[in-house]
Amino acid sequence: MPTLGVNIDHIATVRQARKTTEPDPVWAAAMAELGGADQITIHLRQDRRHIQDRDLRILRETVNVRLNLECACIEEMLMIACQSKPYQVCLVPEKREEVTTEGGLDVVTNLAKVKSATQQLKDSGIVVSLFVDPDAEQIDAALACGADAVELHTGTYANDFFAGNTIDSLAAIDTAARRAHDVGLHVDAGHGLTYKNVLPIVAIETIKELNIGHSIISRALFVGLQQAVREMKELCKVETKS
Ligand code: PXP
Repeated sequence: MPTLGVNIDHIATVRQARKTTEPDPVWAAAMAELGGADQITIHLRQDRRHIQDRDLRILRETVNVRLNLECACIEEMLMIACQSKPYQVCLVPEKREEVTTEGGLDVVTNLAKVKSATQQLKDSGIVVSLFVDPDAEQIDAALACGADAVELHTGTYANDFFAGNTIDSLAAIDTAARRAHDVGLHVDAGHGLTYKNVLPIVAIETIKELNIGHSIISRALFVGLQQAVREMKELCKVETKS
């Protein structure tokens, strides 16, 4: 049964649409915790389009579950991360023009840079996860970097689910999760997961945590965030054989 990380970036997106003070992601984190979130996930982007430095600062003080900070592998973010010391940093690729994180981090091509960033974060006592595509080479590279965890990008699976054929993409996630688990990495997964498509991912026993944002926040508009998180937590407990 995977634990659940709730990504609250979209709360900050609504606030930033008016550059005002509401809705506050700090409130969202509290509601998500009450709903059963095991982790709060935020992405501090270089362009600060949603989460702000102030949010990280306050969430670092107020979140009672694990705080997972997603950020780009660049000096500015590494410095912020090392100063704020969240439980975990997940290094992600970042392009200014993208709507959301599009692919996994190319650890193979950027091995030296990612390895040094991983070391820097670990020296500050931070658990390090790398957001990678479900690909054997990327997993081996993540291990070579000294990462503690990988978060497998489930975006292709999510798109395939929508199109009605998940056989290949689900098999790729299963194989990658097994490989990562076998070499001792903690295995997380996320991106594009919804109340409709999450069960086959929950059924993969080697995946230990899911990070979900868009679908939970969307449902929260109608049922409230606490209830939306509770409903996703229930799905994470469903026992199905992969
Ligand atoms: N994991 C990572 C690394 C992400 O970048 C995102 C998107 O911000 C998510 C999980 C959550 O994706 P979604 O909002 O599609 O659930």
